[in-house]
Amino acid sequence: MSYNVTIAVAKGRTLEAVRQRWLECGWDWPESSNSRQLWFPPDRARPGLIVARGADIPMLVQRGIAEFGIVGLDMLREHPTDGVLEVLDLDVAHCRLALAGAKMEWPDGPARIATKYQRVARDFFRRRSHPVEIVPLSGSLELAPAIGLAPYIVDVVQTGATLKAHGLYEISTVFHSSARLIANAAVWRTGNGMLSVYEQWKAVTGR
Ligand code: PRP
Repeated sequence: MSYNVTIAVAKGRTLEAVRQRWLECGWDWPESSNSRQLWFPPDRARPGLIVARGADIPMLVQRGIAEFGIVGLDMLREHPTDGVLEVLDLDVAHCRLALAGAKMEWPDGPARIATKYQRVARDFFRRRSHPVEIVPLSGSLELAPAIGLAPYIVDVVQTGATLKAHGLYEISTVFHSSARLIANAAVWRTGNGMLSVYEQWKAVTGR
């Protein structure tokens, strides 16, 4: 019997953490002499694997390119997507989204925030009725205060080492995140072979 399900996994922190769980599921990890290979079709030993940017994972699942996706809650909240269900917390790749700045002080007056989490940051300040100006930045966020782009950032924090290295303080936690298994809602539970793959993840996660 061959697997007929494909899982799209977010590269970086999530992919690294998911590899161990994948092996615990009893599946081969797709190895390749070409480390840049990002698409591994399903075979007899494992489901298919697509490696993509976290921001794109919900869309790949929504369009049925992959039956399942694995992505951080941070990306799911930033990119809410119709037709996609969060089905399991995989309890790996723990991190948090945080408001950070050069001083351990809540912004005084309108807050200028550099972030790639525009929706999440806007919502965070809206709930506090605090005016905010979002400066979209797709990476190297920790540089923003030093170069005068914005005095605050909303970014992922795991160990806190990056903030510390740039002399930044964690002012407030926005929310805690971990890797989530998501599924295409239209085929979830009825899709050929989907339930057994879900049960496998559930077993290794201990949930
Ligand atoms: C995130 C974030 C920081 C770092 C924080 O980047 O932007 O740079 O992790 O981790 P730390 O608290 O352990 O130092 P990530 O590696 O996820 O890459 P990204 O730029 O693609 O988000």
